[in-house]
Amino acid sequence: MAIRKIRVMGDRVLTKKCRPVDEMTDRIKILINDMFDTLYESGGVGLAAPQVGVLKRIVVIDVTGEDPYVLINPKIVETAGEQCGMEGCLSLPGKMGEVTRPNYVKCEAFNENMEPFVLEGEELLARCICHECEHLDGIMYTEHVEGELLDSMAPEEEE
Ligand code: NI
Repeated sequence: MAIRKIRVMGDRVLTKKCRPVDEMTDRIKILINDMFDTLYESGGVGLAAPQVGVLKRIVVIDVTGEDPYVLINPKIVETAGEQCGMEGCLSLPGKMGEVTRPNYVKCEAFNENMEPFVLEGEELLARCICHECEHLDGIMYTEHVEGELLDSMAPEEEE
């Protein structure tokens, strides 16, 4: 188990476009395990590789604490509906803001064995997929916040 340091907003690594993963390696397997350890330790629901300083298109998500997903080279291929709600980010601790996202998202990705799969999500999972995929293109949710960024009293809800 290894907890990696989470980069915070202002760190340039969070503004970069990440590179696709073309093959699974032992290093990447370790990275994925460390990302889950870091996610669970921080109480978040999703974490993208650039948040731990690695510019690769890898995301880990677990919105219930029992449904871990690894998304490698994820691509959102379909969205529907709309949801408006508070969003936070482990790279911007103590803050949250209102963001409108699709209520349904269909995402194509590769798993930790580089096998393609499809992940469909609604509500929080859909929000989380959108938020994490944007990290891979150097985009923070703050770019979408409607109104003011607020102080968060519930760090366990941060993504
Ligand atoms: Ni985030």
